[in-house]
Amino acid sequence: MFSVSGRQLAGMLVAVGVVLGAWPARGAEEDIPTAELDPHYKGPKGNHAYTRAMLELGMRMGAATTAALRSNGELAKAALKSFREQQTKVAAMVPSWKGYFPAGPIDELTNAVNAKTDAAARREIVTRIEKTCTTCHARFMFPVQAHYRWGDFSSAVVQTDNGELTFHQLMLDLASGLGAVRGDVAAGQIKDALAAYGKLRERFVSMELLCGNCHEQPRQYFVDANVKARLLKMGGLLRRNVARAADYAPLFNDINEMSCLPCHQVHMPAAFLQMAGRRGKR
Ligand code: HEC
Ligand code: HEC
Ligand code: HEC
Repeated sequence: MFSVSGRQLAGMLVAVGVVLGAWPARGAEEDIPTAELDPHYKGPKGNHAYTRAMLELGMRMGAATTAALRSNGELAKAALKSFREQQTKVAAMVPSWKGYFPAGPIDELTNAVNAKTDAAARREIVTRIEKTCTTCHARFMFPVQAHYRWGDFSSAVVQTDNGELTFHQLMLDLASGLGAVRGDVAAGQIKDALAAYGKLRERFVSMELLCGNCHEQPRQYFVDANVKARLLKMGGLLRRNVARAADYAPLFNDINEMSCLPCHQVHMPAAFLQMAGRRGKR
């Protein structure tokens, strides 16, 4: 949980937020009620109670709203009842979020079906129900997923000849390796560049083993043959003692564009959200 200073800081931020009438942007992971969510996220990923309850809620809502809009009275009433029951169940799972699940709009829709209100009026109520879902999803779905559905980047490691290497250290090594090769080439130090390249290549190979921390199936993007071909070409230039920086430039660019940047776009939000959450709890 929060340290004393963290709590005080949070208190100050709340005070400032209230005074200014605006919330400061916060590390979203601290926002989620993990104590209430934890019990619903036990066991393997495909079997988390909260996720399953949400999927069921989505199915029941789909059935209920469709039937209500078709004005199939009896079917709609039964489906709306079953949707409402599931919503009550889901709402009870995380008490802090109860207020996000109003029963009012579902009851309104039930009344509209009973009263055979016109389609436009029913459509308007359905839209409001859908909005209640989106309001919470837009704010909490990703932080919950970063916490419970993404693997833990801080504990992802790979074995090397010199022992265990963390995900983060491997990343720093990749970046310094690329920078070192380019710097050495620019300075005409091809021997040093080759040494830096050797380490860079070794780190790139190790990176593929990292994926297995979280992915059971091997992944192609970001570490595929196209990227590796750029890396091998760089080695070829170095071994042939090529010192023209311009020959290397497109290779650095491609490696960044094909591997580093797109992979960061996919994985970094979750990784940094996890990191920010840990810092908030220290
Ligand atoms: C799995 C996809 C993936 C690939 C491919 C990847 N990275 Fe990363 N990288 C990450 C993630 C996730 C983080 C944030 C987590 C961390 O640093 O522990 C990160 C962090 C970093 C950081 C640290 C940033 C910081 O501010 O602390 C650097 C530097 C970095 N990567 C460089 C690279 C370079 C250079 C490449 C390409 C040669 C690369 N990465 C390829 C996923 C990837
Ligand atoms: C108070 C917050 C909250 C409300 C309100 C809420 N949800 Fe969710 N929902 C979540 C969270 C958090 C997740 C992510 C769960 C996970 O990935 O384990 C989620 C995930 C889902 C998913 C899985 C979607 C996906 O692509 O991962 C469905 C379907 C879903 N919700 C349906 C609904 C419906 C329908 C409603 C409205 C009737 C609703 N939810 C209302 C919090 C909420
Ligand atoms: C800490 C856990 C973790 C690590 C380490 C990790 N990933 Fe991912 N990655 C995920 C999650 C979670 C997703 C989103 C859901 C999914 O695809 O399983 C994802 C999504 C992806 C996707 C997009 C979905 C797809 O399959 O097309 C690719 C590609 C990918 N990862 C490649 C990699 C590669 C390559 C590595 C290693 C260099 C890697 N990942 C390392 C957790 C991780």
